[in-house]
Amino acid sequence: MSIAELGERFNIVRLSREIVRNAFARDVDQGLSTNPKYLPCIYFYDEKGSLLFEDICKLPEYYLTRAESEILKDRSDEIASFFPEQPAIVELGSGSSIKTRYLLEAFLRRHGQACYTPIDISHEILRESSFDLLNTYPGLEITAVAATYEEGLKQIGRLNGQQKLVLWLGSSIGNFVPDEAELFMRHLRDTLQPSDSLLIGIDLQKEKTILERAYDDSRGITAAFNLNLLGRINRELEADFDLKKFEHLAFYNEQKKRVEIYIRSKIRQVVHIGQLDVTVTFDAGEKIHTEFSHKYSLEDIGKLARKTGFIHKEQWFDSKNWFSLNLFVAE
Ligand code: TRP
Repeated sequence: MSIAELGERFNIVRLSREIVRNAFARDVDQGLSTNPKYLPCIYFYDEKGSLLFEDICKLPEYYLTRAESEILKDRSDEIASFFPEQPAIVELGSGSSIKTRYLLEAFLRRHGQACYTPIDISHEILRESSFDLLNTYPGLEITAVAATYEEGLKQIGRLNGQQKLVLWLGSSIGNFVPDEAELFMRHLRDTLQPSDSLLIGIDLQKEKTILERAYDDSRGITAAFNLNLLGRINRELEADFDLKKFEHLAFYNEQKKRVEIYIRSKIRQVVHIGQLDVTVTFDAGEKIHTEFSHKYSLEDIGKLARKTGFIHKEQWFDSKNWFSLNLFVAE
């Protein structure tokens, strides 16, 4: 089907381009001039990074996607049955929308049609995945939004008046430190109305070796994904990072219950970032922090719901009990 034929069922709102372009230069400048060095994880997901992340999701070691897919495959009809009327379905960080298909299919079986608003920082991935979905499901209408979470929340606010189901899958909440997670959840709650729902995937605490393998696979895809951040700085900000002189590092901090992810400089070196006109010095072994992935206990999840204005309505697990999918309803 051509774009024109899909026209009536497809709309794309692009909020992120300028904001992200300007913020990227500023955040790289800031993050690499502080000690310890830091790069925000939102910048992983340019087109190349989004494709690498798709590859991560297929890795045998990265159990998260498989576990969440298993739950969605088995439970989507049950989840849809919580909604006697068709809700507006919104997804934060939709990526390829592959897992979401189970849920969309369940809603389409019940109601024949569905409106889906995928929100993602990568405009390219959003277009591609939207076309795939529209070609597969004739009953589907899509308003895609290329935006950050913050802008995405504003878009959710614009849907007021309809009952909403917000999907936030993949345990992305784990990428916030607990205080930020709570703040963001409150903010999300404030954009919703009572009886709107949030279906949130949250990864659970488990054995260190399983976690560390999930974030440092034997084929080096995760390493390539992490180092793509430096590649992106080269491409967009005219820098001269030599990716071979840096390495991926991931370990589980058992005290803080989080996987910590860094890029480590193998040697002492100096890098120039053309567009910023700055020179950055790295010591041998110096780390750039790129992401945390916090792992939750069941108790943490219940508390999170209560503290942020939601009722923890239902919880589902995969067959290994490694991952949870949670239905939160706004109080
Ligand atoms: N949200 C994903 C997670 O926390 C992101 C992710 C997976 C990731 N693998 C990674 C981030 C490796 C950096 C490096 O599981």
